[in-house]
Amino acid sequence: MGPVASAAAGAGRTSVTTGGALMPSRRSTTDVVPLLRGAGLVKAFGGIRALNGVHLAIYAGEIVGLIGPNGSGKTTLFNTLTGFLRPDAGTVHVGGREMTGRKPEEISLAGVARTFQTSRPFRDMTVHDNVLTAALFSRPGGLRRAREHAAEVLAQLDLEPLRARPAGALNLVQRKRLEMARALAMSPRVLLLDEVASGLAPAEVDEMTALIGRIRTEWGVAVCIVEHLMRMVMTLSERIVVLDYGQVIAEGAPRDVVGMDQVIEAYLGRRASAAWRGGGGADCG
Ligand SMILES: Nc1ncnc2c1ncn2[C@@H]1O[C@H](COP(=O)(O)OP(=O)(O)O)[C@@H](O)[C@H]1O
Ligand SMILES: [Mg+2]
Repeated sequence: MGPVASAAAGAGRTSVTTGGALMPSRRSTTDVVPLLRGAGLVKAFGGIRALNGVHLAIYAGEIVGLIGPNGSGKTTLFNTLTGFLRPDAGTVHVGGREMTGRKPEEISLAGVARTFQTSRPFRDMTVHDNVLTAALFSRPGGLRRAREHAAEVLAQLDLEPLRARPAGALNLVQRKRLEMARALAMSPRVLLLDEVASGLAPAEVDEMTALIGRIRTEWGVAVCIVEHLMRMVMTLSERIVVLDYGQVIAEGAPRDVVGMDQVIEAYLGRRASAAWRGGGGADCG
């Protein structure tokens, strides 16, 4: 593994600060076990090492931004953490329990939900039934509870008016919301979001940003977002992890990470870095 720049001593594991305050999730020693942890993850496709020894831990109550150029391994990391790909080396732990190589269904039942970069609803099923299916999956046998939970999720995500619509008939914003609704319906403790805001108009991005904030504060779900829209990543994340060529090249508080040379070279560029440090901002990718 290459050198990892860290904005704070402890590489964000014990001393990440936001505006000078210690993150609540790190204050207590009972929270030291991360909800989700990948360690030393390696995944190769033919000659390409999409992941080359990646460590990523998500703790209760936090939002982590995962950024990096196209092809740097972000989606592959999500796929190995959620059982869609088996890592060639390394381990995956969910809440302290080793789950390396387990099936996606087992990992989601353990509390890790994710969205896909290209959404995959059941196109012929209604919005309601798509969400109900996901809710039922995490509550086998409990149709009444699952229905209540699905109704709650639909209301929270403003999908109630679309409940009877076939998923295949939704527009992009609606599909992204449905994708999140399906993930939330599984009552996760950790939610991995893969480019849920890409392709949205600025006002829709703001709504999505607010929604993700609410998912953390109101639902108590920890979130890891992969996103090229830096405005969103900077607004939401307490901690940013930067991938490049399948390796973590930097990690730390947002304002520190955007000023690091290796992040500027690999991803941000000078203009975006300066803008973010000056409080302005620009997007990448
Ligand atoms: N299923 C696959 N088969 C072959 N190569 C893949 C596959 N998935 C990803 N890759 C390759 O792995 C690298 C990382 O891809 P990916 O994880 O999708 O990056 P990101 O999400 O950061 O854009 C890229 O070089 C990509 O072409
Ligand atoms: Mg990707």
